[in-house]
Amino acid sequence: MHKQINVWEYAGQITENVGKGILLTTQADGKPNTMTIGWGTLGVQWGRPIFIAFVRESRYTKALLEKNGEFTVNVPMGEFDKNILGVCGTKSGRDMDKFAQLGLTAVPGRTVNVPAIKQLPLTLECKVIYKQDQDPAAIDPECDARYYAKGTANENDYHTAYYGEITDAYILE
Ligand SMILES: Cc1cc2nc3c(=O)[nH]c(=O)nc-3n(C[C@H](O)[C@H](O)[C@H](O)COP(=O)(O)O)c2cc1C
Repeated sequence: MHKQINVWEYAGQITENVGKGILLTTQADGKPNTMTIGWGTLGVQWGRPIFIAFVRESRYTKALLEKNGEFTVNVPMGEFDKNILGVCGTKSGRDMDKFAQLGLTAVPGRTVNVPAIKQLPLTLECKVIYKQDQDPAAIDPECDARYYAKGTANENDYHTAYYGEITDAYILE
């Protein structure tokens, strides 16, 4: 069952959990994939409710988002298996089917062709209405050194900001 929600009433629940880890799900060519995100922004642009996700160039999620500019965001409510965030934050959908391996319950989206995940029941459905690659030259040098350090796996692995208009918001019950 879907319990419709007003996203602003849950803004605290959503933004508090972003820093702890939530799920960003994509789907293209009929294959869903989900990854853990720790960055995200909830707000308003062009008079629309927006969730902005920041996805590094190297993520399989990025390739799927470029094919289908839609995603879902799933936020935990209460107890849940933290192993989900661990696996989805370290393994790539290029190498494994995270839904099958973790036994995630995919619930079809209502306004997007991407499923929601029942185990983390607070769901935002989003359609990308704008995207922007980070400009390395414009990043604070301390942040640049910390997150994109030369000689590490993150060198030049910059983020793209995907601005998703929130087209539906609900809790899976
Ligand atoms: C707590 C946590 C937060 C993360 N946040 C992000 C994020 O905001 N953006 C990002 O690109 N990767 C983030 N990652 C890394 C991805 O989840 C990880 O690289 C994942 O394996 C990518 O999966 P994919 O290749 O199937 O897209 C995070 C990982 C963890 C553990």
